[in-house]
Amino acid sequence: MNNSLTIALSKGRIFKETLPLLAAAGIEPVDDPETSRKLILDTNQHDVKLVIIRASDVPTYVGYGAADIGVAGKDVLMEHGGEGLYEPLDLGIARCRLMVAGPANAATEKSRLRIATKYVQSTRRYYADRQEQVEIIKLYGSMELAPLVGLADRIVDVVDTGNTLKANGLVPLEHIADISSRLVVNKAAMKMKHARITEFVAHLKTAVTA
Ligand code: ATP
Ligand code: PRP
Repeated sequence: MNNSLTIALSKGRIFKETLPLLAAAGIEPVDDPETSRKLILDTNQHDVKLVIIRASDVPTYVGYGAADIGVAGKDVLMEHGGEGLYEPLDLGIARCRLMVAGPANAATEKSRLRIATKYVQSTRRYYADRQEQVEIIKLYGSMELAPLVGLADRIVDVVDTGNTLKANGLVPLEHIADISSRLVVNKAAMKMKHARITEFVAHLKTAVTA
């Protein structure tokens, strides 16, 4: 029986903050993705591999079963929709808030605000729930620029310290959701490798609550 585990992670903050949790489950990568160009990393366990992908691709790899397990921000999962995934554990890492932000003294009487964001689905849901008509402009990053150059009236983005908003003369306006990273598991893998995955989740859970 194939009992190997493939775990999908993104470089940067998720990788760094997941490392101690993996170590608690006895898993240590052999290479560092920040210095290695490899996209599949071996670990100290011969049947556990890490795949290094874009943060927003993690639910796709896990949903299709190309990885058994992954770590993804709730912001990313809210956009993806969660098809094919279980979300058994809040890892409490990469904490931030999904917010509407904009210029401090912007006029608000416009009938249809333009909102720049990479979070199109969450933004659409947020304004639909409030029965506000808005125009959403999809961007892939540097959302803070959009109000400064007249592309949009507001942005929807994640905020942690607020330093990026402040540095660009913007202020947080409305809170949409608290965000942290979650463990996601492919539904079929959860059935096929049940004992192995539940043991792994239990180890991570202990590390998270410790
Ligand atoms: P992609 O590469 O797919 O565009 P990304 O650049 O947003 O994704 P990261 O910046 O590594 O990827 O962020 C990964 C996750 O960390 C996000 O999905 C979010 O949940 C969280 N996050 C993003 N920015 C911050 C921040 N400033 N502080 C804390 N957590 C954050
Ligand atoms: C994210 C996000 C904001 C910033 C918010 O950017 O898109 O620009 O972090 O964090 P702050 O409130 O602490 O300033 P990204 O992940 O691209 O950049 P980062 O590495 O600077 O966090």
